[in-house]
Amino acid sequence: MRISETSDVWWKTAVIYCLDVETFMDWNDDGVGDFQGAAERLDYLAELGVTCLWLMPFYPTADRDDGYDITDYYGVDPRFGTAGDFVELVHTARDRGMRVIVDLVVNHTSDRHPWFKASRSSTTSPYRDFYVWRDDEPPDTTKEVVFPDQETSIWEYDEKSAQWYLHRFYRCQPDLNITNPQVRDEIVKVLGYWLELGISGFRVDAVPFMLQTDGVDAAELERFPDPHEYLRSLRSFVGRRTGDGILLGEVNLPHKDQKTFFGGRDGDELTMQFDFIGMQNTYLALARQDARPLVRALQKRPATSRQSQWATFLRNHDELTLDKLSDAERQEVFAAFGPDPAMQLYGRGLRRRLPTMLEGDPRRIRMAYSLMFSLPGTPVLFYGEEIGMGENLDVEGRLAVRTPMQWSDQPNGGFSGARSSRLPRPMVDGAFGPEHVNVAQQRTDPSSLLEFIALLIRRYRESPELGWADFKVLDQPHRHVLAHESAWDDRRIVAVHNLSPESCIVPLHLEGCDRSAHLIDLLQSTQDTSIDDAGRCEVALDGYGYRWLRLGSHTSKRLA
Ligand code: NOJ
Repeated sequence: MRISETSDVWWKTAVIYCLDVETFMDWNDDGVGDFQGAAERLDYLAELGVTCLWLMPFYPTADRDDGYDITDYYGVDPRFGTAGDFVELVHTARDRGMRVIVDLVVNHTSDRHPWFKASRSSTTSPYRDFYVWRDDEPPDTTKEVVFPDQETSIWEYDEKSAQWYLHRFYRCQPDLNITNPQVRDEIVKVLGYWLELGISGFRVDAVPFMLQTDGVDAAELERFPDPHEYLRSLRSFVGRRTGDGILLGEVNLPHKDQKTFFGGRDGDELTMQFDFIGMQNTYLALARQDARPLVRALQKRPATSRQSQWATFLRNHDELTLDKLSDAERQEVFAAFGPDPAMQLYGRGLRRRLPTMLEGDPRRIRMAYSLMFSLPGTPVLFYGEEIGMGENLDVEGRLAVRTPMQWSDQPNGGFSGARSSRLPRPMVDGAFGPEHVNVAQQRTDPSSLLEFIALLIRRYRESPELGWADFKVLDQPHRHVLAHESAWDDRRIVAVHNLSPESCIVPLHLEGCDRSAHLIDLLQSTQDTSIDDAGRCEVALDGYGYRWLRLGSHTSKRLA
């Protein structure tokens, strides 16, 4: 395959960076981040090597779920600027070689969305059927609520019409009735609108909930026989309108169920899905200092087709969910990384960022990111990860990790010149606060985490085999080590990670190799590792060590 072909499927080797305009950079000093601020920081992101921005919801909102409760799908929150400022951001990003994807939140609207206001205004409203209503008293659904700290049922009683409406999330987020063809028409128009403004696709919120039809009358269901057919139609719509746009889906389900959301053999539904199972097992492996949980997760992970891809991540904007681990495994991760109940959420997750969980140990933090970037898939960073930001546990719930970006050691971390009381939420304080952790300081320090992440990104981008990988775990004797090989075409990379503090030597057997080949270190300048005629070699690892080794030969044209 030619390198040019990889650009048709740019998302297979993208580096995605998730940011919330509200907390990224405040350019007009009113205390709230804005599009102009984000645009001013695009050169920073381009220099870091990011190739795709994921913008969290920036639409008009009732702001009871940090923007995931939308009141107008065609607008922008005036606190962040105008639609023109949005377009400038997208345009400038493209000029700097970055694509933009945006959050698509159509499982539900805000209860202040005009559709819902009309729907609840009368049972005969033309919008009544935009949402899911029931006459009879709902059964106990306590086990089905997503946010158990705030909700006890997925149905909310509406006094006026004496009916209940469905809300999978908060009661202020009524679920749209996807079986209604008018709703589906509206959704497709929303996609078309934003695509026309130059974006390259969507991060699709809560996909399984969006497609679920429980609670809808049997007669209505006939209007919507197959949710996957619908997902296919959205993918092909995006394809028709853009050629190469994507749907990156949030599907936190076991791998075997996730497989169905990629679609048939050709991968004709979601383009990408976050690997929640891989992420959860990474934390279990880190907690145990034993790579096997992650190995098992990766080996069971369904292969992707040419048209689909896993998105790998260590942290996102929500709680670090551990819901797919067993109770005992979850307790192990809690004990290692968040023993204080204040660090936990909903009994299933943690509201901390990675560096605080790893007690700021630079070796361990780097090893964790090296591991993430080396796994097959497309890496997704959450803003601030590149500098090792921590969380503020004084901030409520999931928002603890959504504090403003730390640009410098100036007041408000250089995020805003406004009084700190006007910020969306307080900065991190203490050892992970902006006095100690900030972009300005790290960009002048060659040994900083920021520079290290930039190096990982450079090497990841130069090595399409990592994204495309035919992946296999290599046999070796240490349970605290993960050794794997990614091969694609004539390219092969061996990555070796040590999850424990003890140094070790890892003996490996590389199939099909002899002494004409050697391993070239992609992350540090060490001597090449030689391979014997039987394809055997030994890789030395420090405690929490990591190495990316490209298989080269004396005639290789590869740079490194
Ligand atoms: C998933 C999002 O990641 C989360 O932040 C949000 O609260 C829910 N969907 C509801 O939209």
